[in-house]
This record gives sequence, C-alpha cells and structure tokens, in this order.
Amino acid sequence: MAILDILIFPDPRLRQKARPVEQVDDQVRRLVDDMLETMYAAPGIGLAATQVDVQRQVIVIDVSEGHDSPLCFINPRIVAREGTEQMDEGCLSVPGFFETVTRADRVTIEALDRDGNPFRLEADGLLSVCMQHEIDHLDGKLFVDHISILKRQRIRHKLEKQRKERQHAESARAREAAAEPRRSAI
Ligand code: NI
Repeated sequence: MAILDILIFPDPRLRQKARPVEQVDDQVRRLVDDMLETMYAAPGIGLAATQVDVQRQVIVIDVSEGHDSPLCFINPRIVAREGTEQMDEGCLSVPGFFETVTRADRVTIEALDRDGNPFRLEADGLLSVCMQHEIDHLDGKLFVDHISILKRQRIRHKLEKQRKERQHAESARAREAAAEPRRSAI
C-alpha cells in the first residue's frame, strides 16, 4: 500500500471528470487500498480518486467512530434523494476550511463493491453528506462550489498564498543544499 499525494484547491486537476471503471480488477483494488491508507493517514473520513489525480469513479469513506468500517464505492450513482439538511463540511483538498453546505438529507446510492458486485445503500446524516461530497469530486466539483463566490475566492487566495510560501521555502532549502560543500569519504 502507499500514501498518495492529495491535490489542493484550486488545482485545475480537481475539475476533471472521472471515467467509469470498466472492470474491477487488482489494479482498481490496489487503488482502493492506497486511497484508504491515504484517507486514514490524512486523517479524513472520505476520499475520491480525483483528489489523488486518478480520473476513475472510485470513492472510499469511513464515518465510523473507530475508523474501522471502510466503505468503497465504484461507479457510484445517486438514484434517489430526499429532504434537505445543512452541515459544516471540510475537505482534504481544501485544508483548514469548514463551511455550511446544504445537501439532500437522505440518499440512495447504487455502486459496485471491491469485488465488482453491485449493491445499493440508503443513508442519512453524515454518511449521506459524505457520499454526496465524494460523488461531487468525481464530477469535478468541490464543496466550495456550494458556498458564496466571495467566500470561495477568499479560500482560494489563502490556499494559493500558502502554496507560494511552501514553494519559496522548498527552493530556499534546495539552494542551501546546493551551496553545501561536497565531501566524499574514501
Ligand atoms: Ni473532499
């Protein structure tokens, strides 16, 4: 298993639409395992393949208290939605920000499991919100698309600033490393 890099908003790759998985094979199962490891390490309660720069319709979720009930949805589709609810949402691709988003209260999802078998799941509460959030990612959408333009721009500017600061720090470190005298042990 491996921990994958998570793309950060406003990375344009987060706007790509994921393709359906044609066959659930070992390669897809490896992606699922890597995504779970990445999600737990972050730590987060959901992750979509789009966030790790893989344009396939795969999401993983674990909303359990003990972080011991991983769920995997391949080619997920929302087939029914009911009611509305508001919840504060965050996202591993929008680190450090939480905003209130209105979504369906109850959804029914059809998907394939890790073995490629179709299943249907009805959910409400946090699991319902999480599934809608992750399926949005596969469509190239982020929770910040559900809030005001002003708030979205503010988040975008702050994250872009942080990225520039990180890049400056990295290039400063690289310059220092290059300036160090070369010594060889013989
Ligand atoms: Ni997210």
